[in-house]
Amino acid sequence: MRADDVNQMGLGTRAVHAGQHPDPATGAVMTPIYQTSTYAQAAPGNHKGHEYGRVTNPTRSALEGNLAGLEGTRHGICFSSGVAATDAVARCLRPGDHILASNDLYGGTYRLFRQVHKPFGLDSDFVDMSDVSNVERAIRPETRLLWIETPTNPLVRVVDIQALTDLAHSRGIAVAVDNTFATPVLQRPAALGADLVVHSTTKYLGGHSDVIGGAVCTNSDEWAEKLRFLVKSTGAVPGPMDCFLTLRGTKTLEVRMQRHCSNAQAVAEFLEADARVAHVHYPGLPSFEGHDLAAQQMDGFGGMVSFLLHDDRIEAAYRVLSSTKVFTLAESLGGVESLMNHPATMTHASIPPEERRAAGLHDALIRLSVGIETPDDLIRDLDQALSKA
Ligand SMILES: Cc1ncc(COP(=O)(O)O)c(C=O)c1O
Repeated sequence: MRADDVNQMGLGTRAVHAGQHPDPATGAVMTPIYQTSTYAQAAPGNHKGHEYGRVTNPTRSALEGNLAGLEGTRHGICFSSGVAATDAVARCLRPGDHILASNDLYGGTYRLFRQVHKPFGLDSDFVDMSDVSNVERAIRPETRLLWIETPTNPLVRVVDIQALTDLAHSRGIAVAVDNTFATPVLQRPAALGADLVVHSTTKYLGGHSDVIGGAVCTNSDEWAEKLRFLVKSTGAVPGPMDCFLTLRGTKTLEVRMQRHCSNAQAVAEFLEADARVAHVHYPGLPSFEGHDLAAQQMDGFGGMVSFLLHDDRIEAAYRVLSSTKVFTLAESLGGVESLMNHPATMTHASIPPEERRAAGLHDALIRLSVGIETPDDLIRDLDQALSKA
């Protein structure tokens, strides 16, 4: 199918077909794993569109077309990890520039901005972006980029992408949205004006916890050119096998997300009704602060839930974290299997404790990545683990 035709179709169709063409050499319906570092040239400069594997690879190009199709953007650019994708965006800025980011965000993004880029003169601040006026107050003359996570990690706060994009663009500031938690099935930031949509494809897009990858999608030819230059010049590229695995994941993204959402809703409702639980963070709960915005901005509430026990001592959280049988205690999220995580010592340990606490991240908070198992089994597992608290 022609790219223009596919991109007019529904998301489920784009997930399966965008960027995909039968292999020109053999007719293979699925894009082969082009496990090659280089390509023959008939004469110097006379080649079939590929020169060297760091710069381009047909399996990677198929994935890039697929991700662009899903996000509804002109360009998709793949990286070896989500962090490498974030790093490439930051490298497009200059010393003296300033990034304003969500204060509730993946700990590795905080570490990258503060410990890697700050020593090179790229400054950053972190604010609660669920209140637009916080962002307005924190913008500096040198601010060049808003880095939005929504829903945020791990408190799943919902940020108004359209309002922040309007504000940023009125000040000449670019906007990047880390869409890892929502995926393009639930939220399409480029349609709301975001300049860059960033992914850890390691998570829901890959979907099976068997590959690390990242991507940036954009409608801007200028950003795409800078990012492709960085791909070539810094070399953080995914291998063809990783691209193949990610592509296999994206094809089922829509159906998986539907199940992640319904399972997470069931788990969140169980936890909210349970006397042992003090607070549940999930955008699908009507009691949740960002519920109305999420209902308007998203096509579903996602698979991530976090909660705090009434007994908010860290030992009680540890007992729950060590007692589940279906949920596995592990970093990461977005796979078919349910995972449990302790942000303060795991994913968010690189954020200084005082900054974490100021952002509302309690030391005893438990984060769940709700998988696609049978929902009753997940609830029974949590019920028995809570009894150990
Ligand atoms: C929201 C978010 N963004 C980015 C990343 C970084 O991605 P990766 O682990 O693929 O480098 C993560 C990893 O957990 C994440 O949760």
